[in-house]
Amino acid sequence: MIKEVNNDLNLISELENSFSFVLSNVLEDINNNPFSRYVAYIEDKKIVGYINYYLIYDRCEIANFNVLQAYQNKGIGTKLIKYVINYLNGKINNITLEVRKDNPAIRLYEKMGFKKVAERKGYYRGIDGVLMEKEMEKKDIYVLGIESSCDETSFSIVKNGCIEIATVISSQIDIHKDYGGVVPEIASRNHVKNVTFVLDECLNKAQMTMDDIDMIAISYGPGLIGSLLVGLETAKTLAWLYDKPLIPVHHIAGHIYANNLVKKMEFPLLALVISGGHTELVYMEKDYNFQKLGGTLDDALGECYDKVGKIIGVDYPAGPMVDKLAHMGNDTYSLPMPLNDNSYNFSFSGLKSAVINLVHNEEQRGNSINKENLCTSFQNVVVETLAKKTMKAVSDLNIKNLVLAGGVSANKGIRERLQNLCELRGINYTFPDIKYCTDNAAMIAVAGYYAYHDGRRADFTLNAFSTLELK
Ligand code: KG4
Ligand code: ZN
Repeated sequence: MIKEVNNDLNLISELENSFSFVLSNVLEDINNNPFSRYVAYIEDKKIVGYINYYLIYDRCEIANFNVLQAYQNKGIGTKLIKYVINYLNGKINNITLEVRKDNPAIRLYEKMGFKKVAERKGYYRGIDGVLMEKEMEKKDIYVLGIESSCDETSFSIVKNGCIEIATVISSQIDIHKDYGGVVPEIASRNHVKNVTFVLDECLNKAQMTMDDIDMIAISYGPGLIGSLLVGLETAKTLAWLYDKPLIPVHHIAGHIYANNLVKKMEFPLLALVISGGHTELVYMEKDYNFQKLGGTLDDALGECYDKVGKIIGVDYPAGPMVDKLAHMGNDTYSLPMPLNDNSYNFSFSGLKSAVINLVHNEEQRGNSINKENLCTSFQNVVVETLAKKTMKAVSDLNIKNLVLAGGVSANKGIRERLQNLCELRGINYTFPDIKYCTDNAAMIAVAGYYAYHDGRRADFTLNAFSTLELK
């Protein structure tokens, strides 16, 4: 297993101890030299090898690497160099290293694409050294995204964070419909059943093999823990088996990055995230930088749509149908504007209860409910609340780019209202294609590409989280 050392005090001290014969003070080096990076190779629960390199803006110098004697000739050195090459792919122009002229490893370096570019006379106590350089090709990066946080098992391959090669989504909606919502245990079991088939189909569709994949992006939270674990263990297995970097992706980051498949996202931006589990306003100053401005204090918007749908007899997930009915009626029912304040927070449980009480009261009086009108009135309140809070954030932060994200962003009423407001104010506005609004792995692959460029990596200790802060 390969691990980054720089930010882990335990690993730093273990490295100093294991390699005290060549390394003096790793901590001091890291503190004094911002360019110096250490990566450790772990086997038998201990550090058995490491590589130290300097990342100096657009180039990398491999300073030294070492493997404990008992672990030599097992390809660990090659794995460490390959890890660095992979890690820096797309980020830098070249990698250099120095080696003794008589070191047989030169052949190995040449195989990895290093070329001799200069001689260093007497560099190694009288013995000449060779400077070798590897030009980094500006190669396309293919990310395999995996999503299984709720009831969709999905795999997708996306090129360079914006071009979708193939996506397969296996939805369990028909299974859960009978229960009026997702049953976690049933969801996990079906993920287990589906996962290999969906992966196979995705690779077939893309006409690619795992060897063509550069890295694996996994949605590791938030979501249903059992469901997440199926995707996560699949991702880890693939990363281990094919020796690919594992990139951890927050599910909501994925929803936001679905917009990058429509148009390259411009920053700073504001994202209105509305899904079955989330309702949040997120500010992004630059790629993969998230700052939550506010969110729901109780129910998520999608959840509220599903409950409102249920009370009027619409099957789960009710959002699309409620949206459809809302476009067929008139605003005749009076419902309260929830949390009508100046904060960036939302609250939907009061609105949901108001709808439920209204339906019960009418039923008790023997009156029938006009479903279309109720949906119109409900959706109008939702749209007004979202528009008010979003536009307040847009003004307060002088936002020029707004993106919608999450399953509920498929909602026609919400899309159109925000579109009108953005047009009036000259704001650049994007929402994802309908097929990328609800859960899918394409959005995870896109986010994974940017997470990778932000330096995010996971090792095989990565866990899944049912709740997880976006940062
Ligand atoms: O993002 P998503 O797939 O799941 C989470 O990550 O939570 O969102 C699913 C939610 C469901 O609650 C569904 O009812 C809602 O998105 N939804 C809609 C619409 N399409 C899907 N809600 C309102 N209007 C729609 N057109
Ligand atoms: Zn989602």
